[in-house]
Amino acid sequence: MESLNAITALQELDELRVKYTGKKGELTLLLRSLGKLPKELRKDAGQELNTLRDEIESKLEQTGRKIRDDENERQEKAQRIDVTLPAKGRTAGAFHPVMQTMHDIANIMQGLGYSVASGPEKEEEFYNFECLNMPSWHPARDMQDTFYFPDGTLLRTHTSPVQIRAMLQYGAPLRIVCPGKVYRRDNDPTHSPMFNQMEGLLVDKDVPFSVMKGTMTEMMNAFFGRSLKSRFRASYFPFTEPSMELDIECVECSGHDEHCRVCHGTGWLEVAGMGMVHPNVIRAGKIDPDKYNGFAFGIGLDRMAMLKYGISDLRLLFDGSVSYLLSGLGGEN
Ligand code: DAH
Repeated sequence: MESLNAITALQELDELRVKYTGKKGELTLLLRSLGKLPKELRKDAGQELNTLRDEIESKLEQTGRKIRDDENERQEKAQRIDVTLPAKGRTAGAFHPVMQTMHDIANIMQGLGYSVASGPEKEEEFYNFECLNMPSWHPARDMQDTFYFPDGTLLRTHTSPVQIRAMLQYGAPLRIVCPGKVYRRDNDPTHSPMFNQMEGLLVDKDVPFSVMKGTMTEMMNAFFGRSLKSRFRASYFPFTEPSMELDIECVECSGHDEHCRVCHGTGWLEVAGMGMVHPNVIRAGKIDPDKYNGFAFGIGLDRMAMLKYGISDLRLLFDGSVSYLLSGLGGEN
């Protein structure tokens, strides 16, 4: 009984069973040896041994049941699912911040009646430069250090060639935006050899300068989700005349921090180039510049994404760190 009380595993129980009530068990042997006892003792001894055997067997069974029950309970506990626990979060994919920016601005422009157009990244010099009022001798070509292929084609240095392709394809009147990758021989902390631009072009009759200003400020306000101060500065691009650059109020400090890391204390951020489309460019698109005019703009999407999401290093956008991109900057998480 002492050994039985001490056991905890079914195997030990079997060993005990064999030891006492097995074929050669101690109790079995005793029972078998009853015949050797003097007759007058046999009956009492037999009764005693039988009672003992019943007791042992019932105790064996009881212990077996207890061990099995304990084991079942232990397993149940280990496998129990607590359906009341809060569910674990599940990480879903998120848009790349630049893609999110591209979608957002394209959506805003579609709301103003613009369609999304596209053109090839491997472009002809003709569309990338020539048609945009930059003949081969033009010094502005040097400003865009270009990747050329041996056959004279190139990786487009801006999305502006899509202006020409769209005019040739659709004619006037026309409203398009063209987001896409562009390439230049540039590689430092603030420049990447590949970056993203969005081109815009509106061609119609008697388009006033004010439409360009209104469109650009509305686009910026819609993108940043609030009304920002803006200013237009005179600039130069070969494909527009007059040309302007748009500055918006610093989205980080609104001009209140002279040590601002985003605007460097100027209070302004340069966000777009634009202008009234040069008659030579309209003509290159096979549209009559005496009947139609328009405006065009170009914005850097990577810079817009960095400003909106507070990203300070351009390389974070292109290093491909999944955990960084999944942090839900641009989309759902
Ligand atoms: N293509 C210019 C660049 O890459 C940006 C630009 C400026 C586009 C003025 C335009 C424009 O359409 O009108 O720097």
